[in-house]
Amino acid sequence: MLASVVCLLSVIARRLTPLSIMVRERTFIAVKPDGVQRGLIGEIIKRFEAKGFKLAGMKYIQASEDLLKQHYIDLADKPFYPGLCKYMSSGPVVAMCWEGTGVVKTARVMMGETRPADSKPGTIRGDFCIEVGRNIIHGSDSVESANKEIALWFKPEELVSWTQTNESWIYE
Ligand code: RTP
Ligand code: MG
Repeated sequence: MLASVVCLLSVIARRLTPLSIMVRERTFIAVKPDGVQRGLIGEIIKRFEAKGFKLAGMKYIQASEDLLKQHYIDLADKPFYPGLCKYMSSGPVVAMCWEGTGVVKTARVMMGETRPADSKPGTIRGDFCIEVGRNIIHGSDSVESANKEIALWFKPEELVSWTQTNESWIYE
């Protein structure tokens, strides 16, 4: 009963809210140092743009090992954690915030599996890399992680709310 009321209210809200002011789900994506070195920045951005997702923030930085330690804090007890933080801070990364319905899950599908060897052709890791320790792209694994990661990498004023003029051709 409650679920159907919530569903009905969200349908009404969608009808009443102009598409341009709705903030959809957001995720944090990073082109890792190996992706940058291999000239894959454009290829990766192209896929998210072509899909219809909206770029809400982007910065090109060499992140500190401290930031990476925080970013990967959930993996702190893994043997590969120190090497992972070193690799991720070893060169510039492209840190991005992408927006769109279901973007967290869909971005993970577009990326492929953690291990490139398990990733299907057509996915980013399936098409462009070979080893787990050089898998060229990061994407948040849940909405909760996405919110934490976006807050870690971006100040609120670095995220842009803007109107994508083709939005009514992407969403019903
Ligand atoms: P990411 O966080 O970078 O998007 O990757 P993921 O969710 O697919 O995988 P996760 O388990 O979060 O691992 C983070 C990154 O750690 C490296 N890794 N190395 N040597 C290993 O067995 C191993 N396992 C993971 C990868 O770079 C992985 O993307
Ligand atoms: Mg992860």
